[in-house]
Amino acid sequence: MSTSDPTTAADFANEELEESGRPFRALYAHWEAHQWSPLELDLTTDAESFAALDDEGREAFMWIFAHRFHAEFSVASLLAPFLQHAPNYEMQLLIATQVSDEHRHLQSVLRVYEEVFDVRAGFEAIQQLADAHRDVIADTLYAALDEKIGNLATTGTEEDYVKAVVCYHILGEGVAARTAQNLAAGQYDRYGDFPGLEKGQHHVARDEARHIGIGVTYLRQMLAQHPDARGWVDSILDEFAVFASDLLERALSDDMDDQVIAGYGVGSVGFYEEAIRQLQIRMRSVGYLQD
Ligand SMILES: [Fe+2]
Ligand SMILES: [Fe+2]
Repeated sequence: MSTSDPTTAADFANEELEESGRPFRALYAHWEAHQWSPLELDLTTDAESFAALDDEGREAFMWIFAHRFHAEFSVASLLAPFLQHAPNYEMQLLIATQVSDEHRHLQSVLRVYEEVFDVRAGFEAIQQLADAHRDVIADTLYAALDEKIGNLATTGTEEDYVKAVVCYHILGEGVAARTAQNLAAGQYDRYGDFPGLEKGQHHVARDEARHIGIGVTYLRQMLAQHPDARGWVDSILDEFAVFASDLLERALSDDMDDQVIAGYGVGSVGFYEEAIRQLQIRMRSVGYLQD
């Protein structure tokens, strides 16, 4: 396979995956060419570095990984209606690869809990520990995502598919998770040497860029072809604008800044601004905003 052919090339930088609306078959070829295993991450040094942290450092890690646990666990289970109601075989195939990726991501988070945090009592014990670090912002985000994808599960209409892709691939993965991932990158360095976590994060970031790309490619097609698609996207973006500023207000009134800064290196306002910047990039990629 020639990597110079833009329709089948399997090797793209993350930005090319997210921002260029690659053909579906190229996104599939990329998946086949970039398989990895959480079982192969060497976490020995990471476990030593974690054991050497003070309470504050450990708490920051537990908070970030509780977010990672809830994110991967929710998205892995929320993908079923996208598979069930896929509009064509190409989309069905790509969603199937994404279901596989999200479970792989969850496995890599579980392995960090077991081998770095030394929580070895099984899935339920890890889930309990992650639940103990839940916060109102993350809970509100997942509840909103759940509701929108619940509509797709019930109706399976084209309108609900478009809206669910905007919520999941663009706002969930492309804005909220992408912002967290961007800001968390490099934060491990502040706490010590974590080469296994960094390697895992590199693999996950590439997978997530491809997931965003799946949403971008699908929405580009819909916006170009379906006369009602822009209105469907508008209605979700209007709701999101209100939702995001409510969340920011809540984070500020709940005094969450210390926690946010410990995990992401910026406060709630910095997080919000990066999210809005990511939203603009995504909306340009899908052809909703012009350059
Ligand atoms: Fe993921
Ligand atoms: Fe994802």
